[in-house]
Amino acid sequence: MRGRWITGLISLAILPGGIAFSTAAEPISAKKTAAAHPGYLHLTSKAYVPPDFDTETFDHLWQNWPEPDRSVAEKASPAERRRITLARYGLSGRPDNPQQPLQYVVSDKGQWSVNCFSCHGGTVPDGQGGSIPWPGAPNSRLALQTLVDDVIQTKASLGRAISLKDLGSSVIPLGTTDGTTNAVMFGVVLLGIRNQELAFDRSRGLPEMTHHDMDAPPWWHFKRKKMLYIDGFAAKGHRGLMQFMLVRENGPERFRQWEPEFREVYDYLMSIEAPKYPYPIDRDLAAAGQKAYNRICAECHGTYGSASENSVVDYPERLVAIDEIKTDRVRLDALQPQHRRHYGESWFTEYGKLPNLDDPGGYVAPPLDGVWASAPYLHNGSVPTLWHVLHPAERPVVWRREGNAFDPERVGPRIATFDELPASVTEAWLRRQHFDTRAFGKSAAGHNFPDQLSADEKRAVLEYLKTL
Ligand code: HEC
Ligand code: HEC
Repeated sequence: MRGRWITGLISLAILPGGIAFSTAAEPISAKKTAAAHPGYLHLTSKAYVPPDFDTETFDHLWQNWPEPDRSVAEKASPAERRRITLARYGLSGRPDNPQQPLQYVVSDKGQWSVNCFSCHGGTVPDGQGGSIPWPGAPNSRLALQTLVDDVIQTKASLGRAISLKDLGSSVIPLGTTDGTTNAVMFGVVLLGIRNQELAFDRSRGLPEMTHHDMDAPPWWHFKRKKMLYIDGFAAKGHRGLMQFMLVRENGPERFRQWEPEFREVYDYLMSIEAPKYPYPIDRDLAAAGQKAYNRICAECHGTYGSASENSVVDYPERLVAIDEIKTDRVRLDALQPQHRRHYGESWFTEYGKLPNLDDPGGYVAPPLDGVWASAPYLHNGSVPTLWHVLHPAERPVVWRREGNAFDPERVGPRIATFDELPASVTEAWLRRQHFDTRAFGKSAAGHNFPDQLSADEKRAVLEYLKTL
């Protein structure tokens, strides 16, 4: 019984993502990224996990929305209503086909199976006040828990059976703040109940879990790294990309069978490029910023050339001890040495052939190319803009996006800030729109290195970061 619900909720692990804004803008384009790479086609056309719901359920979600949103949806045309519904949960159309959701594979029978883009397919600002879907960008708008809650409610009102998978979400939290997910713990549970060959192993029992939420990293950094994840514990490899398919329905033989496809997914990830900043840049200021950056930041984050294609000159992939970085340590401790070891001895690493760190002791400084497009910042997504990264003392206690606008001054979403969660925010789905840095695993403290810069230098470094 225990095994059943666990594997049920596991499938949930792999749920949805982003927001779609149609714009025909030219300044930036995802076409290079998405252009029918075989790996992209696998992820968008093959259901590697069972469906979560069908089109009818999705198209009825609005009926359970609070007013005035419900009435707005009711009056909208079907196409507009579909767009509003996708956007509400942080989902979007595909760059190559706006009618299809990027974050789901929809079968001919109208069954929706979630894919990697739920967390790894967000949108980026287009330079014209809108944003465009960008496969590989972190989906910082994904409202996963809210979507699952609404799906359960809608299935109930349509008289549909609630699946075990639906119920799983009440056992393992999916994410307590929109744009972030408990993804790391999904991985721990999913693998924890299998042996090294990935067969289910009842003798293993449930691994110890510490639920916490993370902001997905951008896939355009994949090609820069040897070791993956914020603590750099796992070597890069095509097999490791398959862990997100560890749902009950996928036994060991499926992993062997799908391995060739994931070699192509690996190649696809290697091909993804960061978007270029689409707003004006003050080049003189940025040049001054580069000097200050090279003095303070480069030793950890690397050096970058002029703003040309593939401008990374040197990326040291430096692991920084937790006592030095001083950012939230919940993620570091939640993934315990025995969790990492179990992964390191499994099929994913060819039974230990690939290097693996059981106890990395800190976080890796990420590359900064495309950093303008991956807000919010730090591994838990606690810092809303680059300006706030550079001004550690002025990071908000509680913040929320103001609509979907991009703030080119501070480089990140336009936000409202609060000292407390506003008293009017009582419902869970509204609470999830507020990032509360006082909550477990959500601290915005640490990474105080920018305070070695003068106020003028901070301004200049901010400008420089736009060029990367
Ligand atoms: C539920 C959300 C979610 C889904 C679905 C998901 N990921 Fe992730 N992914 C994350 C998070 C969060 C991290 C960061 C984890 C960490 O650093 O500890 C991550 C990290 C990664 C990384 C490491 C990136 C780096 O720079 O270190 C890769 C590669 C990756 N995911 C690939 C995939 C692939 C391929 C799929 C689909 C088969 C997938 N992910 C599905 C949330 C998700
Ligand atoms: C001693 C090493 C070190 C130095 C020096 C350093 N950083 Fe970092 N930086 C890190 C680490 C490690 C992280 C990841 C921390 C985390 O997510 O908890 C990080 C994260 C960041 C991020 C967030 C990236 C993201 O995608 O979330 C930005 C932006 C950043 N640093 C900019 C800078 C700038 C600008 C400077 C210089 C003023 C600088 N850093 C100096 C180690 C360093």
